[in-house]
Amino acid sequence: MAQGASVSPNNLEAFWMPFTANRQFKANPRLLAGAKDMHYTSADGRRILDGTAGLWCVNAGHCRTRIVEAVARQVAEMDYAPAFQMGHPKSFELAARLAAMLPGDLDHVFFTNSGSEAVDTALKIALAYHRVRGEGGRTRLIGRERGYHGVGFGGISVGGIVSNRKMFGPMLAGVDHLPHTHDLARNAFTRGEPEHGAERADELERLVALHDASTIAAVIVEPVAGSTGVLVPPRGYLRRLREICDQHGILLIFDEVITGFGRLGSSFATEHFGVQPDMITVAKGISNGTVPMGAVFVRKGIYDAFMTGPEQVIELFHGYTYSAHPLACAASLATLDIYQEEGLFARARELSPYWENAVHSLKGTRNVIDIRNIGLVAGIELEPRPGAAGGRAYDALVKCFERGLLIRTTADIIALSPPLIVEKSHIDEMVDKLGGVLKEVA
Ligand SMILES: Cc1ncc(COP(=O)(O)O)c(C=O)c1O
Repeated sequence: MAQGASVSPNNLEAFWMPFTANRQFKANPRLLAGAKDMHYTSADGRRILDGTAGLWCVNAGHCRTRIVEAVARQVAEMDYAPAFQMGHPKSFELAARLAAMLPGDLDHVFFTNSGSEAVDTALKIALAYHRVRGEGGRTRLIGRERGYHGVGFGGISVGGIVSNRKMFGPMLAGVDHLPHTHDLARNAFTRGEPEHGAERADELERLVALHDASTIAAVIVEPVAGSTGVLVPPRGYLRRLREICDQHGILLIFDEVITGFGRLGSSFATEHFGVQPDMITVAKGISNGTVPMGAVFVRKGIYDAFMTGPEQVIELFHGYTYSAHPLACAASLATLDIYQEEGLFARARELSPYWENAVHSLKGTRNVIDIRNIGLVAGIELEPRPGAAGGRAYDALVKCFERGLLIRTTADIIALSPPLIVEKSHIDEMVDKLGGVLKEVA
């Protein structure tokens, strides 16, 4: 196990940390040095219960032997293979296995290395699809307020988190946004899908009336908005979006980077909600976070629309040096084996009532103004400190880490999303520790 000074760097300056208050962190660093199953080990040798599956990605738990060995075998056998005009067997095997997990005709897979790349890829496929069908005027993309779709220019353009957008100029032209679905006044402390708010999907009709359907390529939403602080869709909302998209020939993209691979107790949110999009973006749980990987799942009709010109011509001028990287494919295949053999998606579903009761037991705790949950994910919203938004949740994060629990925060919302191997005793520990900390945070 990693111990003390041997794993502590003596210079924290050079690394410009992502999505981190660098100076604050470097003055009081939180360093992780080891991981196994449900726990991290901090650089000072403490066990930290992982309440967030890393960053929503380690769904099968940490350092699973099967994945570690598969990656080790692969790196020794073939470290890298180009994916342009060449192929390697595991990439085809993986695509076929993923396609078999998906409902309907979502049966083609384009590999990327991250969720951000998956989103940009899906947006590009949407634009190109309409063009190859002779509807090149459909260039407008529609996202949603509070949406998070990664940090590429496409993703921040359709995304709706203001701090991720405001510094970066005009971004993509011709983007519009649906309203978000958060409604504290009507839905606070709802268990599962909120009752109120499906009508917000009708705003898409307004955007169609404003821009005309012939200019709109695609709508992209997270089925459950994760990074903005766990917003579960109102009952009927996603179905309504699907209907409006169908009426107007608009593609619907579900960004399932968080909801994919068991988080909701089903393989994907599309299955959970019974609404099928035209494309799905994934990452994170696809490879259990072990090796970076993302993907776009595409309906057959979209793929087929590209397969029409002369056979020697590249159909889509898009891809990454590391698309379908052999290590990522090996990690993903081993991950899918674990999900299947251990029945982890069903496990998440079976545990979700226990999870729901546990997190909702925090109702009434100091400063808690809402608790939301679905599958094995929960959001706990705190009343912000006047003039110091985010301070309360950040203090909770620091205190939880000191007491051996990793939580995630965004503004004043705490998100919990443990690995799907979580035991009831871990859930109790998480809620006990977090509850104790919240009582102390002024
Ligand atoms: C819904 C969603 N889309 C896209 C991304 C971006 O993924 P990545 O950080 O792998 O680029 C994330 C990351 O949290 C996400 O939650």
